[in-house]
Amino acid sequence: MMKTRAVVQGVGHYLPERVIPNSWFENKLDTSDEWIRARTGIESRHFAAEGETVSELATKAASSALGAAGRAADDVDAVIVATSTPDLTFPSAATIVQAKLGMTRGYAFDVQAVCAGFVFGLSQANALIVSGQARRVLLIGAETFSSILDWSDRSTCVLFGDGAGAVLLEVAECEGSNRDRGILATDLHSDGRHRDILYVDGGVSTQEIGHLRMQGREVFRHAVEKLAGTAQASLDSLKITGADVDWLVPHQANLRIIKSTAQKLGLEMERVVLTVQEHGNTSAASIPLALSVGVERGQIQPGDLLLTEAIGGGLAWGSVILRW
Ligand code: ACO
Repeated sequence: MMKTRAVVQGVGHYLPERVIPNSWFENKLDTSDEWIRARTGIESRHFAAEGETVSELATKAASSALGAAGRAADDVDAVIVATSTPDLTFPSAATIVQAKLGMTRGYAFDVQAVCAGFVFGLSQANALIVSGQARRVLLIGAETFSSILDWSDRSTCVLFGDGAGAVLLEVAECEGSNRDRGILATDLHSDGRHRDILYVDGGVSTQEIGHLRMQGREVFRHAVEKLAGTAQASLDSLKITGADVDWLVPHQANLRIIKSTAQKLGLEMERVVLTVQEHGNTSAASIPLALSVGVERGQIQPGDLLLTEAIGGGLAWGSVILRW
């Protein structure tokens, strides 16, 4: 039976110019390049310049995705920005991006699910397209986590980076099988009981300027278990296994989390797109950045089956399976 699908027709990314190697932290904190590499796999990350905001990074990534798809801004029906670090409390980063792209139609809104934001955004974009509320959705993951880091906390500030990635999803009528291009499965979860193991200790209604706080070991423990669980649920819903997947494109938080999850799913590391070494953890931007870099490197090819998964503050986590 024919089925309406949301298919990725273009991908792009943008990274701020400033590259920060691990050695940058050695002069400021009791840490070392060796410790950061061994515990996280991170070698360097990009930080936005002073005054360079999420909407600027997002607009550049979005323009690149539109270019790759051969579409103009006014071809888009909906813009979704997944971010936890918007320029302003309101309006949404998405409406600012809409204006910066020169878009005069459609609608725009943000999704806030921290590091799981892009997976939640993919699920929302899919729902809009499958339900007929949009034919083309521009989905962007963009973050400037450098603006919420506590530079005196060595257990968190070495982990994160800034950047943006974007995909243009378009409606397509497909045959209704696992061979179809587009989004084939989605699986979302959250559990607010774990809100205090990863959070920012301030915000608009508390009238505090907040910084990221994390119980690293606890987050690690939840991450491995929950990521493998959601990925397996998506695979099961299509009656396939890890062996059918061409590329795992995970949220890039920590190489050890990625390796453990891949192992649980029976995927060799040769089939994992890895960018954490050069990007650090860019939260909602990490998966679209990895998709774009994976295409640029020639790893991801048209027709490949991709599995993405992410977890972040909330806790919120989920997975998506799509054919490229
Ligand atoms: N340099 C040197 N030493 C450090 C550093 C640092 N940057 N950070 C922590 N340490 C020290 C600690 O103080 C501790 O010292 P102690 O034993 O004297 O108390 C020691 O290293 C071990 O600390 P642990 O927290 O047990 O180290 P662990 O091996 O768990 O690694 C890490 C810490 C990397 C944060 C790990 O727990 C982790 O990756 N957790 C997942 C968190 C994550 O990725 N969060 C991202 C956001 S959520 C997400 O995107 C999934």
